[in-house]
Amino acid sequence: MANSNLTEAKRAKNDEFYTQYHDIEKEINAYIDYNPDVFRGKTVLLPCDDPEWSNFTKYFAQNFERFGLKKLISTSYAVNSKKYKSGYQPTLFEVNDPQYDEYKTKKNGKIFILDHDKTGDGKIDVNDLEWRYLKGDGDFKSDEIKKLRDEADMIITNPPFSLFREFLAWIVEAGKQFVIIGNMNAITYKEVFPLIKENKMWLGATGNGNDMVFGVPKGAEVAEKDRQKAARLGYVGDYTRLGNSCWFTTLDHGKRHQPLPLMTMEDNLKYSKHKEIKGKESYDRYDNYNAIEVPFTDAIPSDYEGIMGVPISFLEKYSPEQFELLGSNRGVDQDPNGVYGRGSYLNGKETFKRIFIRHKKVAK
Ligand SMILES: C[S@@+](CC[C@H](N)C(=O)[O-])C[C@H]1O[C@@H](n2cnc3c(N)ncnc32)[C@H](O)[C@@H]1O
Repeated sequence: MANSNLTEAKRAKNDEFYTQYHDIEKEINAYIDYNPDVFRGKTVLLPCDDPEWSNFTKYFAQNFERFGLKKLISTSYAVNSKKYKSGYQPTLFEVNDPQYDEYKTKKNGKIFILDHDKTGDGKIDVNDLEWRYLKGDGDFKSDEIKKLRDEADMIITNPPFSLFREFLAWIVEAGKQFVIIGNMNAITYKEVFPLIKENKMWLGATGNGNDMVFGVPKGAEVAEKDRQKAARLGYVGDYTRLGNSCWFTTLDHGKRHQPLPLMTMEDNLKYSKHKEIKGKESYDRYDNYNAIEVPFTDAIPSDYEGIMGVPISFLEKYSPEQFELLGSNRGVDQDPNGVYGRGSYLNGKETFKRIFIRHKKVAK
């Protein structure tokens, strides 16, 4: 298979990674801890979901009353439109429903709605979800799903990895709040970094840069080392893991308001646990920027007033009260002044991806 076909196949497979209940619960808890009313009276859309309902749908349906939601809508993508083909079997839940249609089950997407006590048991929960086939295939770019987006206050999902940029743009153009799963590498994309820089979006509270386990379609091929890693985390069977997944969101959480504890430059040079810093006379300076290179987030000096280049994982610890984001060394057009984004060099050698930051207020 040609290399590009292989990449394409891998991408298609990564589009079918299913989020675990516990990961959703941990992340959403952080928003609820910070603001117990964050979902009150809101309409939440969960697009790009599973053919049946996903853990996102399950989690929000189970917590519908506790969160004070107004309406929950979840949509799935038609099996025939998916790039990754695996043996599809409609569930008994669907087959036993009078609406079941053996043609539409593959050709159409589905919509699940929760907004009232259908069963009359005095509470609104998973048992009250109502479903039907969509008119189209559930493509988030279709007019049918766009209408649902426009009706919603918030969009929450793990979108197809291969369409991440388009999906984010689709939310942003409608000005909706969101919580979505992505990849740490997306941070420096030209469609992503400007939003982070302007504090219009940030990383979520949990899971960033750690191993995140995902379900895969039954029988899908998973690299043995990923299967073993998932098993070590307690997920045995049709699961894989990704080491660089993260949440991107517009919902606030407490972690981003905790200042990072830091040592002074002098103390770092004397006591840092990193051999690249300890014992040196000073921090390295870039050849092409008036800034110092700080290769580890915990080595950011507390008392340096100038500009510092830090790894992208810094964003896991970023608090907008403590630091200002100035640019990244990828994509010239990310920086209106054209200073950053040209690659950063140390003694003629290009450094890894860096984000340029400055203390808002330097500790004296
Ligand atoms: C990464 S999976 C996540 C599924 C589910 N949201 C979850 O978190 O478990 C992304 C899903 O989006 C679907 N998908 C792919 N392209 C799509 C599109 N253009 N519109 C809507 N959904 C799409 C995939 O088939 C897949 O089921």
